[in-house]
Amino acid sequence: MSAASCYLGFDFSTQQLKVVAVDEELKLVHRSRVHFDSELPEFRTRDGVHIHSNRLTVTSPPLMWVKALDVVLEKMKKEGFEFSRVKALSGCGQQHGSVYWKEGSQKLLESLHPGKPLHEILEGAFAVPDSPVWMDSSTSEQCQRLEVAVGGAQRLADITGSRAYERFTGNQIAKIYKTNPDQYKKTERISLVSSFAASLFLGKYAEIDYSDGSGMNLMDIFMKRWASPCLDSTAPELEEKLGVPVPSTAVQGQVSPYYVGRYGFPADCKVVSFTGDNPGCEHVCVSSTGSLAGMRLQEGDIAVSLGTSDTVFLWIKEPRPAVEGHIFCNPIDPQAYMALICFKNGSLTRQRVRNECAGGSWDTFSEALRSTAMGNNGNIGIYFDEMEITPPTIGVYRFNKENKRFLELEYWLLVEHLPIMMFCRSFRMCLVHQSTQLTQPILHA
Ligand code: XUL
Repeated sequence: MSAASCYLGFDFSTQQLKVVAVDEELKLVHRSRVHFDSELPEFRTRDGVHIHSNRLTVTSPPLMWVKALDVVLEKMKKEGFEFSRVKALSGCGQQHGSVYWKEGSQKLLESLHPGKPLHEILEGAFAVPDSPVWMDSSTSEQCQRLEVAVGGAQRLADITGSRAYERFTGNQIAKIYKTNPDQYKKTERISLVSSFAASLFLGKYAEIDYSDGSGMNLMDIFMKRWASPCLDSTAPELEEKLGVPVPSTAVQGQVSPYYVGRYGFPADCKVVSFTGDNPGCEHVCVSSTGSLAGMRLQEGDIAVSLGTSDTVFLWIKEPRPAVEGHIFCNPIDPQAYMALICFKNGSLTRQRVRNECAGGSWDTFSEALRSTAMGNNGNIGIYFDEMEITPPTIGVYRFNKENKRFLELEYWLLVEHLPIMMFCRSFRMCLVHQSTQLTQPILHA
């Protein structure tokens, strides 16, 4: 590796932490990752999350994200990555998820000792040990209350860019305040996953950036500051706990001495605002997931990102917020915006169907697709394994060309228990046959 400068981009996504290093020409010089389920099994996540028994509450432990950072940096060190070359770093995180720093955590962050891994130092730093994440759909009550408080869904969208959505951070905060007032009271600072990750590097609380801050139902996306009616109907003393939103391109400081001492980062290595994974982030972050900045989108471009969530997004100049979909501040151009629609049942649902229908092989799956007529002879299947965001519904919907719904039970039998299905089918055919026969005069005779 030459001694030229390089830039790091971290991506704290749902299932893993990824990091890439690029040189001055944006050429990839290093890549590493930590997969949460398999490499940090002590946190007992499945696909990076805990789905609670009501199937609506979905959380992840913030300490797992901290430990993942320890593991990835140790991996890089072992592989001989020269941290001394890093001029600046930035990154992104799954949107909407929130981290609740306990009273006294600012002090902990300021005095990180390079002799210890971060997860040992920050073990007791979280007032809420399991953070709500973007897959959560448990805050319908809080959403209704917020819309009523500000004058309706469209009014809320006109201010914050979106009507009230269950996964949006403000509604998650309102739920924590209502169900766990003690945890809320003990919270010194609330970060998004993105600003939480930046805080780990800065050794102090990072500010929330405009773009990821747009996914909270709390920020006025035109004035780029917290919207008082939203704060007031969410929880008390919220403004102090949120800090002040800043541009997504802002340099928020230099790396904490912890990284200089433990890994050999230069003391003047800059930390640029981290942002959400869909907006992507400033040019120093080359996120390996789809993101507006990482894909270098321009006005008029539309991108489709197929990840744990599927999203469609585009760069826009004149936003007109509606009650479906979202408008976020643009992470690159402070005058512009981005529009986005998010579908929760993305790659996990696709993989589930692939495993059931194609023995876990994408090749077999693709072959099956290729060998079927375009349009599948009018048969269609829509799969919502978890409560969907767009539209808010759950279940498997399969229709034949006559537009008749094919029942889930039949599908389950067909896929999981073909012999039983065949038996049932012939049994049913028998019944159908008999009932047909019964209506035929000849049999009455
Ligand atoms: C976007 C959304 C998801 C997450 C996935 O609004 O909820 O795409 O950002 O990490």
